Amino acid sequence: MSAPEVVLEGKIILAGEFHDVCIGIDDGLITVIGKDLKGDRHIDMSRFLILPGGVDIHTHMREPGYTHKEDLYSGTMAAALGGTTTILDMPNTNPPANTYVALEEKMSMASWNSNVDFGLYAGLTPSANVSVLAELALGYKIYMAGTTNAPPITQDEIAELMANDDLAGKVVAFHAEDPLLFGDEENTGLATHDRNRSAKAENSAIQFLSTLDTKAILHVTHVTNAEGLAMCGGMSTEVSPHHLFLNMEHGIQQFAKVLPPIRNEETRHGLFSAFAQGSVGIVASDHAPHTLEEKGEDFGEAPAGLPGVETRIPLMLAMAKKADIPLGLVQETCCRNPAQLFNIPKGQIELGYDADLAVYDMGDIRTIRTDDLHYKCGWTPFEGHEAIFPKLVMLHGEIIAKDGEMELERIGRRVEQRD
Ligand code: DOR
Ligand code: ZN
Repeated sequence: MSAPEVVLEGKIILAGEFHDVCIGIDDGLITVIGKDLKGDRHIDMSRFLILPGGVDIHTHMREPGYTHKEDLYSGTMAAALGGTTTILDMPNTNPPANTYVALEEKMSMASWNSNVDFGLYAGLTPSANVSVLAELALGYKIYMAGTTNAPPITQDEIAELMANDDLAGKVVAFHAEDPLLFGDEENTGLATHDRNRSAKAENSAIQFLSTLDTKAILHVTHVTNAEGLAMCGGMSTEVSPHHLFLNMEHGIQQFAKVLPPIRNEETRHGLFSAFAQGSVGIVASDHAPHTLEEKGEDFGEAPAGLPGVETRIPLMLAMAKKADIPLGLVQETCCRNPAQLFNIPKGQIELGYDADLAVYDMGDIRTIRTDDLHYKCGWTPFEGHEAIFPKLVMLHGEIIAKDGEMELERIGRRVEQRD
């Protein structure tokens, strides 16, 4: 066998243990993993940790329609510089990605502009032609309470949609909140926001999902509380860093306004403990940027949503180091499990997988500063939090980012599912 084109040497985590290895890469794929491999090009990262490139299955890159907040180019640059090499984009853009034509247009924009690999969700509406959308969408999204460009859908409509056999084996992601249980207090701060869109309303929606008769794979996005998580049973689960790390006593008020809401410290702590015990399937950012000006409105007027694609893995790594949580858990929830849910050849350092890799110096803990991030919106809810950013990021065996700077842009491709 000839020498691999590229060899990346470093430490990887296998079954919870660190191993010093050389990863051989040919044609963008991992072709050999061994000791002392010689390649045409050798990248010595032997002192550092290599993780699979991150897979963030919940992002709103805002293109088309809201490119003053973010676009596919800026959002995927932020992803890359935070160690994420695959993103899935949500459908509540403008026009919404609910039709073949809208998906095709978004696909074409992403093919030109994306700095990481990408997949798209189709918004699932009562009139959707599921099999046509499946040609372009990796999964489907349903907003049970409605949101911008996704009108509310009733439980009867959801039950009917989910009985469609065209959804067999497909991932349907749910924003789980039951609008029938929403409060109507004047929304003046994080506490009223939490009361109006309570964990009770969230858990009622989760309870409904658990009763659905369907052949689809159900995924519950951004669960905010441990009780709700436990109610997910056999469904796929996701939590977001803002629900793990922020509470509603947080000083940033409308900047932390998000749906579902940030909860109180007790609930946050319960969610974090569930994560630490291995009860969470996937950590996804729900990167949903709005501009400083938009977020600067009064609490009631400010749009819900906050950015997070660049800080997701860096925050999780610094937390794991500090809280003595196994790095393997971060690797599983941020890389492997999300890739497995969608059956894409990513998120693992394994033969035949895409050579999407990120290298970290675990001693290099930094403080997050907006000025060091790459979002168009120009702010982060995690200012001052500790984080470990990647030293080197590879996509398909090419170095796309090094020491916080992009090296190679716009080489992201549409992700393909494994056979
Ligand atoms: O806070 C949120 N922001 N929740 C959503 O469901 C949508 C998102 C957005 O697109 O801004
Ligand atoms: Zn979202």
